[in-house]
Amino acid sequence: MESPHAVLLVVLIATFAICNLVQAEDQEGFISLDCGLPPNEVSPYIEPITGLRFSSDSSFIQSGIIGKVDKSFETLKSYMTLRYFPDGKRNCYNLIVKQGTTYMIRATALYGNYDGHNNSPKFDLYIGANFWTTLDTGKSITGVGEEITYIPRSNSLDVCLVKTDTTTPFLSLLELRPLDKDTYLTTSGSLKNFRRYYLSNSESIIAYPEDVKDRIWESRFESEWKQISTTLKPNNSIGGYFVPQNALMTAAIPANESAPFSLTEELDSPTDELYVYLHFSEVQSLKANESREFDMLWGGEVVYDAFSPEYLNITTIQTNTPVTCKDGKCNLELRRTKNSTLPPLLNAIEFYTVIKFPQLETNETDVVAIKDIKATYELNRITWQGDPCVPQKFRWVGLDCNSLDTLTLPRITSLNLSSTGLKGNIAAGIQNLTHLEKLDLSNNNLTGGIPEFLANMKSLSFINLSKNNLNGSIPQALLKREKDGLKLSVDEKTRCFPGSCVTTTKKKFPVMIVALVSSAVVVIVVVLVLIFVFKKKKPSNLEALPPSSNTPCENVTSTSISDTSIETKRKRFSYSEVLEMTKNLQRPLGEGGFGVVYHGDINGSSQQVAVKLLSQSSTQGYKEFKAEVNSSSNFC
Ligand SMILES: *[C@@H]1O[C@H](CO)[C@@H](O)[C@H](O)[C@H]1NC(C)=O
Ligand SMILES: *[C@@H]1O[C@H](CO)[C@@H](O)[C@H](O)[C@H]1NC(C)=O
Ligand SMILES: *[C@@H]1O[C@H](CO)[C@@H](O)[C@H](O)[C@H]1NC(C)=O
Ligand SMILES: *[C@@H]1O[C@H](CO)[C@@H](O)[C@H](O)[C@H]1NC(C)=O
Ligand SMILES: *[C@@H]1O[C@H](CO)[C@@H](O)[C@H](O)[C@H]1NC(C)=O
Ligand SMILES: *[C@@H]1O[C@H](CO)[C@@H](O)[C@H](O)[C@H]1NC(C)=O
Ligand SMILES: *[C@@H]1O[C@H](CO)[C@@H](O)[C@H](O)[C@H]1NC(C)=O
Ligand SMILES: *[C@@H]1O[C@H](CO)[C@@H](O)[C@H](O)[C@H]1NC(C)=O
Ligand SMILES: *[C@@H]1O[C@H](CO)[C@@H](O)[C@H](O)[C@H]1NC(C)=O
Ligand SMILES: *[C@@H]1O[C@H](CO)[C@@H](O)[C@H](O)[C@H]1NC(C)=O
Ligand SMILES: *[C@@H]1O[C@H](CO)[C@@H](O)[C@H](O)[C@H]1NC(C)=O
Repeated sequence: MESPHAVLLVVLIATFAICNLVQAEDQEGFISLDCGLPPNEVSPYIEPITGLRFSSDSSFIQSGIIGKVDKSFETLKSYMTLRYFPDGKRNCYNLIVKQGTTYMIRATALYGNYDGHNNSPKFDLYIGANFWTTLDTGKSITGVGEEITYIPRSNSLDVCLVKTDTTTPFLSLLELRPLDKDTYLTTSGSLKNFRRYYLSNSESIIAYPEDVKDRIWESRFESEWKQISTTLKPNNSIGGYFVPQNALMTAAIPANESAPFSLTEELDSPTDELYVYLHFSEVQSLKANESREFDMLWGGEVVYDAFSPEYLNITTIQTNTPVTCKDGKCNLELRRTKNSTLPPLLNAIEFYTVIKFPQLETNETDVVAIKDIKATYELNRITWQGDPCVPQKFRWVGLDCNSLDTLTLPRITSLNLSSTGLKGNIAAGIQNLTHLEKLDLSNNNLTGGIPEFLANMKSLSFINLSKNNLNGSIPQALLKREKDGLKLSVDEKTRCFPGSCVTTTKKKFPVMIVALVSSAVVVIVVVLVLIFVFKKKKPSNLEALPPSSNTPCENVTSTSISDTSIETKRKRFSYSEVLEMTKNLQRPLGEGGFGVVYHGDINGSSQQVAVKLLSQSSTQGYKEFKAEVNSSSNFC
């Protein structure tokens, strides 16, 4: 059987004339997105036929390309454009909604050969992290639509299109309608619209604005039925379902008035669970000696007895728990009671299948925080759409999340934005990722200081901030965390800020620092530190060697800075060797805390060294000098 909405467009177009624009209802809370509406067109606009107010979808999605259906397709304005998604596996709309409100969500896709390939795409739709449905746009050339009820668990809702084959997902319309509290409730799960009928031999569809909730009602009629109707408008506001009045003005009764009224529906999937809504309103004014009373049977069993519809007043009888159908064949029977003088009637009926959404979505605090980080760094990554953690196959690249049991919400445990061209400060939003264990922001252009809050993130055990342009000193609290086992990688220039323990040179090749004590003729012990420096080191300032030993660097263990890939070696040189290296102390480079520093090289090779001569007059002791050399060897 063709999708229930397959015929919608044709009929709507056929009924242009009939559908004299009724005063547009207020559309409060409606979200009506015309996907792919070009930026040069007015938004929002009123769809001339339906009176619905459509807006461009462009501010609700970061990806996708605008397409236009082929000129040969005559259709409503809102269906003429679409947005298609050639890039990425999952593309998501993100909508602002009201947490806890029941929404009817409808996605509609009209292919219209927009790409000239004459090949209708097929793809999946997700609500948040959960599979909703497969849209096979080849099922109807006039467009396919799917509808579901959903209660968002936060004020943000993702509707995602997922590529499942070689064809390209696209969407024409995305519509959300808030429903009345206490209507379409379930014990669990959401309601997927399966069939929605008003019983009439009319051929037309009833939709907005006749239906203030913008549901779409198809007509249904069978030869075993007879139609009765009224010209009076019934009260449809009782119960909150607001079934359109013109859907309630007709009813079907059995043609054989002594036989039961019967309606059969076959499920697509025999094991589906259903919710059924029966809408009644008496259309005849009954005389005193007349009565209409009947029992309702589902699958042959009485589910409601001795019901009498009220004249021009709606009564909705619904299943309070989901029901099933034997072999997927659902049968509703209305059987008149013995006392009833009139046969049973039915005005309208809705079938919904239950769809379970078992996947819990990522804790909202984490979602808000990671979106904030995304905005701060203006990251426009194709995978960074929808839920950051789940489903796992669509997890945002650069994130890890904790493995989940079925009761706890996923949390972000690792954020890796290494080498992504980040600029600016370390984002404050990071502190709200309270379950973060690993943070890698290395190899970016981050500036500013290292924020204190990192020390307060209790789960953090690994931080890599190296290869950035951070300045300011490392907060004491963070250094304490490091002592307690946190692995912290920062550039040495950051680690020593604003101290003066930096000992690198701007040279790209390995540099040695040779320390030399020039006292008398004694053979001097020289500790040589061989340091391989990174390419982008700032020019060194040998003057900056720490004059005392209580710099932050002294607190640092060498394991904590292994990331800078320093190789340290100690060698001993004799005084004459040192003179050879420095060509008899030819090129002084500057004066350090303990004496003059000279340029040199080893064996005339390209291995350059800085040689520091400890002056005898130095007020600092040899011990301190040694400490300096040792800390130099830690490259601090
Ligand atoms: C319809 O019924 C509701 C609820 O009982 C009532 O408030 C409203 O006034 C009625 N409307 C009309 C037109 O009778
Ligand atoms: C009408 O229904 C009754 C009860 O089911 C049945 O006995 C009778 O034969 C039916 N009449 C016709 C004309 O089908
Ligand atoms: C009800 O009363 C009317 C007269 O007022 C009569 O014509 C009709 O046959 C009666 N109907 C029934 C079912 O008794
Ligand atoms: C219709 O409903 C209204 C309000 O609930 C009530 O006052 C009225 O009596 C009902 N009409 C009938 C025919 O039951
Ligand atoms: C049938 O109608 C009679 C009289 O109106 C009433 O006493 C009896 O309870 C009714 N029976 C049922 C099953 O409703
Ligand atoms: C989400 O995480 C925050 C911060 O850890 C916590 O306070 C909140 O209770 C969590 N929310 C849920 C629904 O678990
Ligand atoms: C972060 O990602 C880069 C590559 O994208 C990888 O080389 C690096 O090891 C990752 N960092 C961590 C801590 O896993
Ligand atoms: C962190 O979360 C709190 C409350 O959830 C919020 O008020 C605050 O603005 C967030 N901070 C950042 C930097 O996002
Ligand atoms: C930092 O920015 C400069 C230009 O602003 C760019 O050339 C360089 O590649 C960036 N470095 C990193 C690691 O992103
Ligand atoms: C850190 O760098 C920023 C710009 O990158 C600069 O404005 C600020 O003065 C620096 N802070 C210190 C303490 O040097
Ligand atoms: C930190 O990041 C840098 C640059 O991405 C990398 O070379 C280094 O290995 C990382 N350090 C650790 C401990 O992962």
